[in-house]
Amino acid sequence: MTRIRSIVRGIGSYLPTRVLTNQDLEKIVDTSHEWILQRTGIEERHIVAEGETTSMLGIKAAQAALADAGLQAQDIDLIVCATSTPDFTFPSTATQIQSGLGITHGAAFDLQAVCAGFVFAVSTADKFLASGSHKRALVIGAETFSRLLDWNDRTTCVLFGDGAGAIVLEAAQGEGTAADRGVLTSHLRSDGRYRDKLYVDGGPGSTKTTGVLKMEGKDVFRFAVGMVTDVVRDAFAATGTTADDLDWFVPHQANRRIITASADKLGIAAEKVVITVNKHGNTSAASIPLALDVARKDGRIKDGDLVMIEAIGGGFTWGSALIRW
Ligand code: UT7
Repeated sequence: MTRIRSIVRGIGSYLPTRVLTNQDLEKIVDTSHEWILQRTGIEERHIVAEGETTSMLGIKAAQAALADAGLQAQDIDLIVCATSTPDFTFPSTATQIQSGLGITHGAAFDLQAVCAGFVFAVSTADKFLASGSHKRALVIGAETFSRLLDWNDRTTCVLFGDGAGAIVLEAAQGEGTAADRGVLTSHLRSDGRYRDKLYVDGGPGSTKTTGVLKMEGKDVFRFAVGMVTDVVRDAFAATGTTADDLDWFVPHQANRRIITASADKLGIAAEKVVITVNKHGNTSAASIPLALDVARKDGRIKDGDLVMIEAIGGGFTWGSALIRW
């Protein structure tokens, strides 16, 4: 049965210019390049400049995605920005991006699912487009996690980085089969019992402060490898596809060991796995669109390729989306 699909029309990203290497971190906390590389796969990450905000990164990523799509800002009627590091408590970062792009029509809102934010945003925008209510969406993941870190805590400050990525999704008629282009399926999960495993210890409704990031790394690691595979299997089952059908697996980039363990468990060949955590660190909601942009621009992701994205973040929240490019 024919149905509306959300097709990827364009992609773009932006990284702040300042690069912070593991060697730089050795001067800030008691750590070593060897420990960080061996435990996480991270070599360096980008960090925003003084005064540079999440919406500024998001605007640059969105402009790059629009240029890639050959579209004007005015062609967009929906902006969904996934972020846990908004410029302000309100108004939303999405409205700041909307204004920065010069758009005054349509709707713009933020979505907060921490590191799973981009997958949640793709799923949400897809449902808007599939309903017929909107035609072209900018789906953005933008973060300045450097502002949430305790720079004296070596167990967390070495892991994260800043950046933004964006895709343009456009409504188009599909056949309703897995051969269609666009978002074929998405599967979202949450379980708030795990709040204390990964959280920020402040907020406007509790401490009236921003707070800093806290994490039980080992527990998050175990959960990440254990649970994310479920939503990926759900995506395969919903579309009648298997790991062999995938062209690319583009997971959230938190830790190389989590990525390879998940791929192994799912039977996804190592050469199909896109890894950018070495250069970006964990950029939370921005990590997947940043990785997608790298793999699209270097020629790996081609039109028609089947791409699985998946992520897990604080909450916990986790999800997958299967996209035919
Ligand atoms: O985006 C979703 C959220 N985040 C994640 O997915 C992260 C999930 N977790 C992880 O990636 C890993 O658990 C970490 C990379 C955070 C930690 O790796 P680990 O292999 O689980 O190490 P660990 O926490 O068990 O720490 C091992 C040792 C400890 O020392 P002792 O107690 O064995 O003496 C830590 O104190 O490494 C020590 N350590 C460090 N040493 C040097 C912890 N952080 C550092 C550091 N440099 N930065």
